[in-house]
Amino acid sequence: MKKQRVIGIFDSGVGGLTVMKEILEQLLDVRVVYFGDTARVPYGNRSREELILFGEESVTFLIGQGAEVIVVACNTSSATALPILRDRFDVPMIGMVEPGARLAVEKTIAGRIGLIATETTVRSKAYSSGVSRALAKGSVPENPVLREAWQHGEQAIALVKAQGCPLFVPLIEAGLANSAEARGIARTYLTPLQAAGVDALILGCTHYPFLEPVIREILGEDVLIVDPALAVVQELKVLLQQMDQREQSGLVLAPSGSVLGKSHWRTRYFVSGDPGLFRQVGNTLLQVPIDLVEQVILSE
Ligand code: DGL
Repeated sequence: MKKQRVIGIFDSGVGGLTVMKEILEQLLDVRVVYFGDTARVPYGNRSREELILFGEESVTFLIGQGAEVIVVACNTSSATALPILRDRFDVPMIGMVEPGARLAVEKTIAGRIGLIATETTVRSKAYSSGVSRALAKGSVPENPVLREAWQHGEQAIALVKAQGCPLFVPLIEAGLANSAEARGIARTYLTPLQAAGVDALILGCTHYPFLEPVIREILGEDVLIVDPALAVVQELKVLLQQMDQREQSGLVLAPSGSVLGKSHWRTRYFVSGDPGLFRQVGNTLLQVPIDLVEQVILSE
């Protein structure tokens, strides 16, 4: 029987559920442990040092729950803490920024990429570097006209506008994604992106897919909305295959899986804050039942 891998996911709150949903839909033979650091949400204006510390605590906790792979389902942590976390832990990790930037490069039609994200992610410039790196590593746009221009050395693709959206996360965490307030605020944030003529908009915060209907309503059909989660799942599939192959070829030892015991479960949810609020908001946003949410205290 094929071994079920345990994927650990963390975010500041409910945002990572948008990534978890993609994983559960596309990878039928994995188990997922989710940690939402709801006592310390939002992460969007935290310092790099804080984000590294929170990341270390989250990863340590998830490994303790049997996670063999970590998905950093938080762009803010991915943009700031991920390189340090990769250095400090042996477990493989996938972040949001590299896959998201690559997907935007592939999908843009006019080469004018826009980004909405937390202030910290915008300030880090991780997505601009991610776009340049994706191009340098050979990601090519699917649009043939753009591809040709790019192959001829023209500066055909760039992140032309990045907008910090600090009010989005508190609104979503409060269960107000579909409110008049969210609409008004979204209009204010999206206007500069429209003015910059972006044709592909990266949702550079895992909370934002919950606002996709509102964003779509404002931007209309001409702007492509890029959700990095789709590319993250592709990367995760490849990584899991590589892990299987390495174990089958005897290059590494398969973990014993003793932490999991014999019980059958597909998902487990942990938060540092109020489990009831997480369950309620998560259930409404995801429309999949979240039965049990356990509270954990990571540090005093
Ligand atoms: N969902 C997270 C992100 O992708 C965190 C946002 C926040 O807590 O401010 O950036």
